Amino acid sequence: AFFTPVPSTLPTSLYSATETTSGVQRNGNFAKLAGGYLFPEIARRRNAFLEKNPDANIISLGIGDTTQPIPPNILKGLLDGVGKLGAKETYSGYGAEQGMAPLREQISKVLYDGLISPDEVFVSDGAKCDIQRLQNMFGSQVRSAVQDPSYPVYVDTSVMMGQTGELNEATKQYDNISYMECNAENGFFPDLENSVRADVVYLCSPNNPTGVAATKEQLENAVRICKERGSILVFDAAYAPFIRTPGVPKSIFEIEGAKDCAIEVNSFSKYAGFTGVRLGWTVVPSSLKFKDGTPVKQDFNRVMTTSFNGASNIVQAGGMACLSPEGMKEITELIDYYLENAKILSDTFTKMGYDVYGGTDAPYIFVGLKGASSWDTFSDILEKAEVVTIPGAGFGPGGEGYLRLSAFAPRESVVEACERLKKVFS
Ligand code: MLT
Repeated sequence: AFFTPVPSTLPTSLYSATETTSGVQRNGNFAKLAGGYLFPEIARRRNAFLEKNPDANIISLGIGDTTQPIPPNILKGLLDGVGKLGAKETYSGYGAEQGMAPLREQISKVLYDGLISPDEVFVSDGAKCDIQRLQNMFGSQVRSAVQDPSYPVYVDTSVMMGQTGELNEATKQYDNISYMECNAENGFFPDLENSVRADVVYLCSPNNPTGVAATKEQLENAVRICKERGSILVFDAAYAPFIRTPGVPKSIFEIEGAKDCAIEVNSFSKYAGFTGVRLGWTVVPSSLKFKDGTPVKQDFNRVMTTSFNGASNIVQAGGMACLSPEGMKEITELIDYYLENAKILSDTFTKMGYDVYGGTDAPYIFVGLKGASSWDTFSDILEKAEVVTIPGAGFGPGGEGYLRLSAFAPRESVVEACERLKKVFS
């Protein structure tokens, strides 16, 4: 027989289920999570508003979701990928779990200028999914440190993995995570030197949500401290192509020594409008080792080969097109469009007398609310201007007092949103 029956000698109380519940204990780590994931929560509030106001004309500057169509050369790459599946000679089934060799080579060459080698690149279905996979590899015993505020995936997946204690209601922080304060006073970059040591340190640059890109000096310092302390730096570079300021690093591997302490996650989502297409990658340097000498790459490869079957072959063909000279040109144009949106948003708030951060090397602007509550401001703007934003507090307690606005929107929506915001705020 394929199945061994459950021995009937177990006391029924151990496994019997009522009509409405199974007999399975809930994973206690999930019970620790404070609420729903941030972006669905924003969508829930938006929908609740729409239900009450069915005629509302909502503009979304909330979730950072791309809106512009995929440009022609990149689209052609995707279509060619589809076409190959229709002919016997070019059909392919399962591919390498780590990604197609030519795509790994192009990523290494075009995006990293050879700073990393193709065998250190793991192609995937996105940076968010890779963060969860990294957590899976790190396990429950590590202590993590995050920028506060930060992209909520780092904290939420740490909680899900069982790395943390309960949420402290007073501080709004989970026990056993280090929240490294980032605010206007410290240029939105943490004081790592004076933060407690963590096993895994998450840094995102250009930053989500603050929109601020870390300088070379700040990253050199981060790499030095992580190396000294034996920490692994998980560097999220998903917004790297938005960097326009000369000298600002687009990858952690531009920093000397990073290959001994850092992993980089990245994604085509924001590069090429692939949020729905799904394609990302993670770089795990061969020289990065765990305490016992095991290469980190070996374990990450084990995660990928066990629980992932490789990114879609269609989508990887699209990735190849992104990295062609024509595709790279199209990406630059797409990003210029969103950066112009960011400038319009930024200028609007600046003219109204607010302190605005980010937006020059990132698609997000972060607005200081002069002491107002970020959730109240979010609700106020939704009700009065019918514009969806994201309250800074949604990214951690350090985001209280700020509002994030996304530049991922059609130009006319951004212009219209600014007109409405001016009416609300002045
Ligand atoms: C955001 O709005 O922060 C992003 O869309 C989140 C993501 O990329 O997962």
